[in-house]
Amino acid sequence: MTHQHAPKNKRGLWSSRFGFIMASAGSAIGLGNIWKFPYITGMHGGGAFVLFFIFCILTVGIPLMIAEMIIGRHTRKDPVGAFKSLHGGGWLLTGWLGVIAGFLILSYYCVVAGWAVDYLWLSLKGTFTVKHAVQVPEMFANLLSSDLSQLFWQAVFMGMTILIVIGGVKSGLERANKIMMPVLFLILLILAGFGLNSPGGAQALRFLFSPDWSKLDPPAMLEALGHAFFSLSLGMGAMLTYGSYSDEETSIPKVAITVSLMDTLVALLSGLAIFPIVFTYAMEPAAGPGLVFKTLPILFSRMPGGSMIAILFFLLLVFAALTSSISLLEVVVAYYCDEKHWDRRKATLVMGGIIFLLGVPSALSNNILKDLHIIGERNFLDSIDFACTNYILPLGGLLIAIFAGWVMSKGIIKGELLKGSDKINLYPAWRFLIRYVSPILVALVFLNKAGFF
Ligand code: PHE
Repeated sequence: MTHQHAPKNKRGLWSSRFGFIMASAGSAIGLGNIWKFPYITGMHGGGAFVLFFIFCILTVGIPLMIAEMIIGRHTRKDPVGAFKSLHGGGWLLTGWLGVIAGFLILSYYCVVAGWAVDYLWLSLKGTFTVKHAVQVPEMFANLLSSDLSQLFWQAVFMGMTILIVIGGVKSGLERANKIMMPVLFLILLILAGFGLNSPGGAQALRFLFSPDWSKLDPPAMLEALGHAFFSLSLGMGAMLTYGSYSDEETSIPKVAITVSLMDTLVALLSGLAIFPIVFTYAMEPAAGPGLVFKTLPILFSRMPGGSMIAILFFLLLVFAALTSSISLLEVVVAYYCDEKHWDRRKATLVMGGIIFLLGVPSALSNNILKDLHIIGERNFLDSIDFACTNYILPLGGLLIAIFAGWVMSKGIIKGELLKGSDKINLYPAWRFLIRYVSPILVALVFLNKAGFF
């Protein structure tokens, strides 16, 4: 064991346990919950997909989040440095995979977040007050048909991400989280309430929760598993990096369980807001990546106070995306600061710039580059998203689970896991899940998709 405690004075710490929970929840809750969860649920037929997704959160997601945070807090390093100090050798690749995933995911994340910024701008201009239901999907098509607007908003969003990350852990990442997340939750609750009271409400409930297991084919299973990773920010060291800024007194299992439950709830609420509109207006549940943008504005143009609610909603959506994008950039920046000894400002500006450029083909993939299909019929943006969510994150997660369950010293893990916790000893249950259940489930889903059974 070559591990030594790194000097802590050079790295920031969250100011409180609450701050740590809010930051991790901020990373988890983002476009994955509001943009992606509803649209992939729609594509994969609803209920069975949703229930399998929740099953993956419970059996793989929560144990893995605990594992990542423990590794981060114990080593106080970026993902590559963490594996280097604990074991070295081939395990470094796991850290590397995480940094690469950070690059790739953030590149297209900024493009989709850019759509949300565009919608915030439209809602500020009052665009959603006058729309007829059929005009709303056209507005989205207009946005996608303009490469320039997409590049512009992508740049705006990346600029905001860079500014916050330069600010550092406490001042930059933590403060705003505490107010915005609860408000987002409240707005979603209101939207879901409205949705459920509309004519399509009952059908939406049925679609989301009554399973038709025949729809859960191997690609749907892999997508649900992959999305559990994506949505909880797992498999690439984001939670590891955030754990590295946690103090010694916080109970990591408590944080991980709270964050995972909040994340799942927000995804479900977002589904409950969107699908009633889909069914009320006889839209297509499998409409794809534009789903949220084609549905919610209809609700805003119908409900009392809708134009204000639209502004608030898109503001919070942009904010939720920002608290996730900063955690993606943080993984990359932490690596260059810790391992390459760059200063934070330089690392953030240079890497943010490179990731922006990497995202340009994604921004162009709906118009100029729309005929460039990479994986199947998917365009560039969807292909990178598909590859990251379905392969890179589950693979990273599988490796981290094996490392935490089989390679890392039992004493270290037990010590970290029990810190700050009082009554219940979660260690035996966690160890069983991380050693057997998580790796076997991920392996089975992979093999299933590859056609082994
Ligand atoms: N969890 C974020 C979301 O749901 C995305 C993300 C993935 C963030 C991986 C960090 C790491 O939007």
